[in-house]
Amino acid sequence: MTKIRAAITGVHGYVPDYILTNQELETMVETNDEWIQSRTGIKERRILKGEGKGVSEIGVKAVKGLLEKTNTKPEEIDLVICATVTGDMIFPDTANVVCDKVGIKNAFTFDINAACSGFLFAITTGSQFIATGMYKKVIVIGMDKMSSIIDYKDRATCIIFGDGGGAVLLEPNEEGMGFQDAELKSNGEGRHYLNMKAGGSAYPATAETVAAREHYAYQEGRTVFKHAVRGMSDAVSKIMKRNHLTNENMAWLVPHQANMRIITSVASAADFPMEKVMVNIEKYGNTTAGTLPLCLWEWESQLKKGDNIILTAFGGGFTWGAVYLKWAY
Ligand code: UT7
Repeated sequence: MTKIRAAITGVHGYVPDYILTNQELETMVETNDEWIQSRTGIKERRILKGEGKGVSEIGVKAVKGLLEKTNTKPEEIDLVICATVTGDMIFPDTANVVCDKVGIKNAFTFDINAACSGFLFAITTGSQFIATGMYKKVIVIGMDKMSSIIDYKDRATCIIFGDGGGAVLLEPNEEGMGFQDAELKSNGEGRHYLNMKAGGSAYPATAETVAAREHYAYQEGRTVFKHAVRGMSDAVSKIMKRNHLTNENMAWLVPHQANMRIITSVASAADFPMEKVMVNIEKYGNTTAGTLPLCLWEWESQLKKGDNIILTAFGGGFTWGAVYLKWAY
């Protein structure tokens, strides 16, 4: 019997219109364009503005575009998984909110909270439902509205993050294309270095937690940096060895866009030329679960059927990993 694999059959992304430049950040915190560009590679990031506009706004735009370009009717979708750490509300899940706004009525939905690795975890999960034959059309969304949890008085974090994301459609493929392998890891010891302390059940919102600025993302940058380089390099190397991939038979490396120096370190550890590495960090910064689908969306027209692609990410948790897929169209 032919093996069924989950293949991406369409991708669509969305970034909000408002551009927050390094120059504008210079007016908000003690920083400068030269420092930001040389330490991170970021020139600007997008911000979703507007009262009551949650991350689902991004998901709705991405999913509507995806359904349109793949000629898929909302009622055909079986499952929607949304990777985000900035859901519209703590509950219900944001995948559910997106479905309601888009008119997806016959699906079940859930969110995955794995920070910057969310899209990897979600696409791996969604792929299993296709591979078992249980479902035929699964949407995986990766997106974040980081501006909702960023302290624009903290120069160490506010310069990195932005808002945006994208969605992919997964469908069965019997030609060997699509999802091939994943190397995924979590280590809760990392929670001390990258987190948002308050607003959960440990420290529910109080006037004190707000005054102490504990509803914002906290990051110990240097520690996260080291673990990110090690974690992604290790996952990429394992996936490549296991699947007999080399820098010659690989078409693209799609790394999480957290810091240009992390991206170049990971590419160089895999001996991978930068021409084959997707990089758009200069335009969007770090959109957390949004970076990987945003890259696939931007490079979609350059991808060819059969291309070997590795996606890799590292984020809060810690969580990290790599996913190997063969592009299907
Ligand atoms: O996506 C989830 C995972 N996250 C990541 O992968 C991010 C990993 N970390 C990073 O990308 C980097 O650590 C940062 C970009 C956050 C920080 O860069 P860094 O090179 O690690 O800087 P640092 O924290 O070691 O700080 C170096 C210096 C410090 O000054 P002193 O103590 O040497 O005098 C900071 O106070 O740079 C200073 N600094 C800044 N200066 C100007 C920190 N932020 C800024 C800033 N502008 N925005």
